[in-house]
Amino acid sequence: MAATTAVTLVVLFLAFVANLVHASPPGPMVTCSSGNTTCIVSNALGSFSDRSTCDVASVAYPTTETELFNVVSDASLRKQYMKVVTVYSHSIPKLSCPGGQSGSGLAISTLYYDKVLEVDLEANQMTVQSGIKLGDFIQAAAAVGLALPYTPYWLGITIGGLLGTGSHGSSHFGKGSAVHEYVVRMRLVVPSQSGARIIDLGENDDDLLAAKVSLGVLGVISQVTLQLQPMFKRTITNRVISDVDFESAVASFAAKTEFGDVTWYPSQEKVMFRDDDRVPLSTLGAGINDFTGFREQPSFLITTTRIAEELAEFAEDSLAKCLLAKVYVTTLLETGLGYENNNGRFLDFTGYPIIGNQSDLQAAGSCLDSNENNLLTVCAWDPRIKGLTYHQTAVSIPVTSIVDFIGDVRKLNEARPGSLCGTELYSGFLMRFVRNSTAYLGKTEDAVEIDITYYRSENGTVPRLHEDVLEEIEQMVLFKYNGLPHWGKNRNIGFMGMREKLGSKGDKFVDVMNRFDPEGLFSSDWSDAVLGLRSKTPVIDGDGCALEGLCICSTDNHCAPSRGYLCRPGIVYTEARVCRKTSRVVPEIEEADYERSEL
Ligand SMILES: Cc1cc2nc3c(=O)[nH]c(=O)nc-3n(C[C@H](O)[C@H](O)[C@H](O)COP(=O)(O)OP(=O)(O)OC[C@H]3O[C@@H](n4cnc5c(N)ncnc54)[C@H](O)[C@@H]3O)c2cc1C
Ligand SMILES: *[C@@H]1O[C@H](CO)[C@@H](O)[C@H](O)[C@H]1NC(C)=O
Ligand SMILES: *[C@@H]1O[C@H](CO)[C@@H](O)[C@H](O)[C@H]1NC(C)=O
Ligand SMILES: *[C@@H]1O[C@H](CO)[C@@H](O)[C@H](O)[C@H]1NC(C)=O
Ligand SMILES: *[C@@H]1O[C@H](CO)[C@@H](O)[C@H](O)[C@H]1NC(C)=O
Repeated sequence: MAATTAVTLVVLFLAFVANLVHASPPGPMVTCSSGNTTCIVSNALGSFSDRSTCDVASVAYPTTETELFNVVSDASLRKQYMKVVTVYSHSIPKLSCPGGQSGSGLAISTLYYDKVLEVDLEANQMTVQSGIKLGDFIQAAAAVGLALPYTPYWLGITIGGLLGTGSHGSSHFGKGSAVHEYVVRMRLVVPSQSGARIIDLGENDDDLLAAKVSLGVLGVISQVTLQLQPMFKRTITNRVISDVDFESAVASFAAKTEFGDVTWYPSQEKVMFRDDDRVPLSTLGAGINDFTGFREQPSFLITTTRIAEELAEFAEDSLAKCLLAKVYVTTLLETGLGYENNNGRFLDFTGYPIIGNQSDLQAAGSCLDSNENNLLTVCAWDPRIKGLTYHQTAVSIPVTSIVDFIGDVRKLNEARPGSLCGTELYSGFLMRFVRNSTAYLGKTEDAVEIDITYYRSENGTVPRLHEDVLEEIEQMVLFKYNGLPHWGKNRNIGFMGMREKLGSKGDKFVDVMNRFDPEGLFSSDWSDAVLGLRSKTPVIDGDGCALEGLCICSTDNHCAPSRGYLCRPGIVYTEARVCRKTSRVVPEIEEADYERSEL
């Protein structure tokens, strides 16, 4: 244990000292064995949530709407299944695989479909091809003095892709933080009997409410017009305080802080409120956000860190993980999480507040920057090296439920001290604000989205340390609090019962889908499963399925009985069914666990 900790401390220390320049951008998401045919579609993590990739017959790279039209038209006449694949394909669930027989579908890549088409300086609107990266969009808008008010925090996603899954930043102001709230026009290319047709949707068109968040099942989004604002500045201060009763302050914080979010480190009994408000453009400051987690990292340090995490896992060394988390979080906070006061010109981070242009603060992703391809430095989750492998649970609950939910997590954490340290090695419990939406697949109430990222073993048959605790939290947020999953994150069970949760909005979405793509050429088993169609389900039963979030355990073989992990009720949310280690290995913690599990 001591050795593990020591190794990792050194590694973490080095990770902050080393700052190499040449990052390798992510590899291609579509790789073909001959020309542009017989290809494999993957995602940024190297596989989808069920660890699969998919085979397609071919890939097309349209650059203009006419080319796109012809691609969809030809495939439609052949009755071929299709799906759009983006430059880096950052969603975790299996959204990018065409339906139909494996190896028979068409991937339509938006890799080269990424131009700015029009800027309207009178209306503050910008029209782009859907494959443009968020980073390029933000820069193009900033170049003419405009800004998107709210965005996800990661630059490496595309406008088409982030809209497809309802992606967001954090705000309860105005229409809230989801980018789709700011779409004023959209052009789609959809299949038809005679080939393809273009659908042009304006702001007053009800069908836009389906197209804004579409999971890619309506057809191809060709062009998007977004409502922007004149550039403004933000002032940011991360306030770290004791977590005592912080949850009762969350709703009022959201009501008065335009861009704020909240990060909870439950094991360290700390919470960070990001005080983050709009200030006039004339305010002094050239701060930027180069978030540490999205910077390029030396590959050998990432793999060494991963090995240290694995050693703690294999040794079932809870304490080592907690110590690691403590060092990691302390260092992260002291170095300002990658905020820089003066665009990196002097000392990187000299203290709060960070004041800068919206375009320099709203998102980060410098690990994507360079064109070097030597794999010496990469984004930390790059599948070409043995780096981070993780599960992500990202679910929103009504803001009115946050006090009870956090209270439940506290109880669980008290019953199982140290069990949540592992989450702090990623980003703790990140809480962001999203408003209810008129979009049919958008949020159904003003909500807090809770993101939790945690260790996933290389081998899906190997349970995690404190497997049961995060499973219980996952089921609690999804079913006790009736949470809505982020469409682009989560494990399979996150999407159980979605049709019921969406209610009549789900029906409205399916109506539009049936009109735009009556033959379902843009649908797949996965989209059918999450929309509750054709008796498909996101659940995949089998030995060990609960460990991977492919099922909720109902029998022991869904866990890992040979390793002592059996299917048991939750501790706080007793309706939950979780994989718990029932034999003793770490006496103090396991004993408390064992007694409670017998209640
Ligand atoms: C490091 C990281 C940070 C993230 N941060 C945030 C965050 O802060 N907030 C947040 O909300 N989410 C966040 N996400 C999730 C991310 O925003 C979503 O997964 C997003 O959908 C990814 O966009 P993409 O361009 O990679 O699309 P993909 O994942 O490639 O595609 C998503 C879906 O959209 C479809 N699609 C894409 N383009 C089109 C098109 N032109 N026409 C029709 N269908 C299309 C695809 O077929 C697919 O079904 C993050 C993800 C990562 C990996
Ligand atoms: C594959 O498609 C790209 C983009 O359209 C094109 O430049 C390239 O020539 C194609 N490759 C083959 C072998 O057809
Ligand atoms: C901030 O944006 C304004 C308006 O677009 C621009 O003039 C200014 O140069 C930007 N400041 C920085 C530090 O980039
Ligand atoms: C959001 O919720 C509020 C309060 O429940 C309601 O008044 C409003 O109409 C809803 N807005 C949308 C867009 O659904
Ligand atoms: C995972 O481990 C099991 C049992 O230890 C083994 O049978 C299986 O081959 C491993 N799978 C992978 C992908 O390594």
